[in-house]
Amino acid sequence: MPTTVARKKDFLSVLDFDAADLENCLALAAQVKADRSLGRHAPTADALDGRHVALLFDKPSLRTRTTFEIAVRELGGHIVPLQPDVALGCREPVADVARNLERWVDGVVIRTFSQKVLQEFAASARRLHVVNALTDEEHPCQAIADFLTLRERLGLGTLRGRTIAYVGDGNNVATSLVHAAAMLGVHVHVASPESYQLPHSVVQQATSVARHGARLRLFNEAIDAVAGVDAVYTDTWTSMGQEAEADVRRRVFAPFQVNEDVMAAAGPGALFMHCLPAHRGEEVTSDVFESDVSVVFDQAENRLHGQKALLLMLLATTVA
Ligand code: CP
Ligand code: NVA
Repeated sequence: MPTTVARKKDFLSVLDFDAADLENCLALAAQVKADRSLGRHAPTADALDGRHVALLFDKPSLRTRTTFEIAVRELGGHIVPLQPDVALGCREPVADVARNLERWVDGVVIRTFSQKVLQEFAASARRLHVVNALTDEEHPCQAIADFLTLRERLGLGTLRGRTIAYVGDGNNVATSLVHAAAMLGVHVHVASPESYQLPHSVVQQATSVARHGARLRLFNEAIDAVAGVDAVYTDTWTSMGQEAEADVRRRVFAPFQVNEDVMAAAGPGALFMHCLPAHRGEEVTSDVFESDVSVVFDQAENRLHGQKALLLMLLATTVA
């Protein structure tokens, strides 16, 4: 079991970690995954003893909420499930919510709209560890699970120099994927319609944290982006909060569907990845989703192990 001490206050972005933190998190996640069968005898079973973690979700969730609840419990901590009627920033200022919570709990896991609101929350409470459970801009916990899955499927220690393709909206999931890939030395090809590409700021960030020659390349066609890659990743065309744009997006993104032709262009060894929830017949066909190369439920399982590692790194003082 790697030894770790709380070094970071928050995890609002993959960029809050350096490459060593991210590698450490993935190694720790693999270890807690292996130890899970030990139950109460796992070395981390009491790591969050006496700690309280609040969950505040302004958007729907299956995977993130469930896996954080289980993660805190299996580490011996206590969950405080806050109701959406807290209404971050509506009933009272964001900073006041943060300054209340820091008097009661040690950490808060937040899913909300604006990354700026999350940053304001975290900056307002010096003693509180804050975790981004998805904003409009980033989904960093998803990226931990994604690279844990790739590490397992592609073999330990072999991520450096690998290439993944992301096909679709240059959104929160794509941003965190690209941040983590750059740090881990993984090349990324992104294919998106014009006007839905990764923000330029994200391209710059990825370039500035890239290690081991990791390259980010942007494409206009899915077929060109996927040639020879190790995995093809996609996400919904309409993220939470964008429902009014769904019809337009369905039309614009139609040429970016991950289907059998796209997977054939990627090559026989390529994995299919999706953060879920998936919309069969839109961003992915049912055939690809259900195929042998689909690792989407491994990704979902690994949300639990990745977030356990993250909570240990932020909230446990030592892990023996
Ligand atoms: N992938 C993901 O974050 O799923 P939920 O929206 O269900 O939490
Ligand atoms: N991009 C999606 C991810 C859902 C997990 C959204 O923000 O709705």
